[in-house]
Amino acid sequence: MSSNSLFRKKSLATILKDAKDGLSDGHETGGMHKVLKVKDLTAMGIAAVIGAGIFSTIGEASFHGGPGVSLLFVITAVTCGFSALCYAEFASRVPVSGSAYTYSYVTFGELAAWVIGWALILEYAIGNIAVAISWSGYFNNLLRGIIPEWLVSNYDSASPELMAAAPHIGGIPIILNLPAFMIVVLVTYLAYVGIQESKKSANFMVALKILVILFVIVVGFFYVNKANWHPFMPNGFSGVLKGVSAVFFAYIGFDAVSTTAEECANPQRDLPKGMIYSLIICTVLYILISLVLTGMVPFTNLKVNDPLAYVFNQVNLPWISYLISVSAVVATTSVLLVFQIGQPRIWMSMSRDGLLPKRFSKLHPRFKTPSFATIVTGLIVGIPALFLNLTIVTDLTSIGTLFAFILVCGGVLILPREEKTTVKRFQMPYINGQLIVPGLVILLAILFHNEILAKFSMEGGWDVWKHNIPFYLFTVATVSITFLSATRKLSLIPVLGMLSCFYLMTEIALKNWIVFGIWLGIGLAIYFLYSYQNSKLAAKA
Ligand code: ALA
Repeated sequence: MSSNSLFRKKSLATILKDAKDGLSDGHETGGMHKVLKVKDLTAMGIAAVIGAGIFSTIGEASFHGGPGVSLLFVITAVTCGFSALCYAEFASRVPVSGSAYTYSYVTFGELAAWVIGWALILEYAIGNIAVAISWSGYFNNLLRGIIPEWLVSNYDSASPELMAAAPHIGGIPIILNLPAFMIVVLVTYLAYVGIQESKKSANFMVALKILVILFVIVVGFFYVNKANWHPFMPNGFSGVLKGVSAVFFAYIGFDAVSTTAEECANPQRDLPKGMIYSLIICTVLYILISLVLTGMVPFTNLKVNDPLAYVFNQVNLPWISYLISVSAVVATTSVLLVFQIGQPRIWMSMSRDGLLPKRFSKLHPRFKTPSFATIVTGLIVGIPALFLNLTIVTDLTSIGTLFAFILVCGGVLILPREEKTTVKRFQMPYINGQLIVPGLVILLAILFHNEILAKFSMEGGWDVWKHNIPFYLFTVATVSITFLSATRKLSLIPVLGMLSCFYLMTEIALKNWIVFGIWLGIGLAIYFLYSYQNSKLAAKA
């Protein structure tokens, strides 16, 4: 194995040709229905973004951060905005289905592409486990206790009383989250039968959830007690930052749109627009929602799993609270749908390249969807959803997605120069980072010197400073990228994208970094045992 072969790259021309020709090498690839337009893509972005984050995880984030959590929504939106522009640049240059995976194959080469494809499983499949669990919670709210508790819980959250009351098999209590599993089965079926049907359902669900959210914002503002907004950051900025994983989770999804490139009428023009429009719309809604939420009740009351429904109950409007639960069920269903469509398409691309077995790229003869990969996704999401608890999965999803965003932003910096083209497409503006990046880094270092110095303090010993290891890695990366920006006039937007995503990663607890490391280790083992030999590029060599 030579180190060169790990960095073997696909050329842009080959990727575009593969997607177009399809059947020539035995892989069924071409021929997907090209039905998606800007409106559908924007709807799809919103369908993927607004879900468990704003309906569930924002509660705990507001509890720690107070009204200041709205600031975190702004910071995270800016970070996602940089990444969205990089995704958009790639989507317009490489309009095929694999999203960040394909983009890395062109820029960094095969090993990095595999790593990113593997990390995207955290975003799509593992993220969907979290969404299914959140769906089940709201669904259970709606049914007001009809389902026995042992069928809507998990071992982690079950009380000792529930453990005792649950039916036992061979002495083991049976505790399952059955609705979470059922919704995954249903959504997998929709994804299996085709993009046309999925598109219709997504558009309907998006319209409904936006209407309900706007309604909540408007009504909620009448119930805001301005005193609740003071102090704005009751636990300081560090309290606000505790919500990074939850708030970032709320934004995940706009990038999933890029997996449908081959089902777009005009991907080079429409995909970037769809991604950016959906991000802008969600950002505005999120900031308003977080202000309403923290204005209606004192932030200390918000440590609940259904914060939006909760605050309306508090102001004696139970029917709005019920309406919110209905729309939370709809909203999370649409998130599930988009990711359940996205994951198989990433595997499809990996399989076309030989990194996964051929069956993953086989299209259903009638529905034209990657049917085998869709079923595998259903199993990988549905079965853990029966047993796992929400927070573990959310943190892991956020860290894996931020990592993917960093590679996408980095990839834009090394995209090969474009050959002359007459195609009208989105282009990310080039802003020279030579002076701006060092200037910004120095400014931030001065502004936050106290916090930075505290991270480098060795007081408290290993137990304390091991939690700063991610920050040390971030510091090394920042110094290196700043140096490269100054010497090579790097493009500003991707550089800021990389640095801001990396910073958000440092705010996610060390234990998630460790699990993420193990996940990557397993991925690398599979790569070296299977994918490296079976890669199509290996066969060519
Ligand atoms: N952003 C998506 C959600 O909040 C993953 O459900």
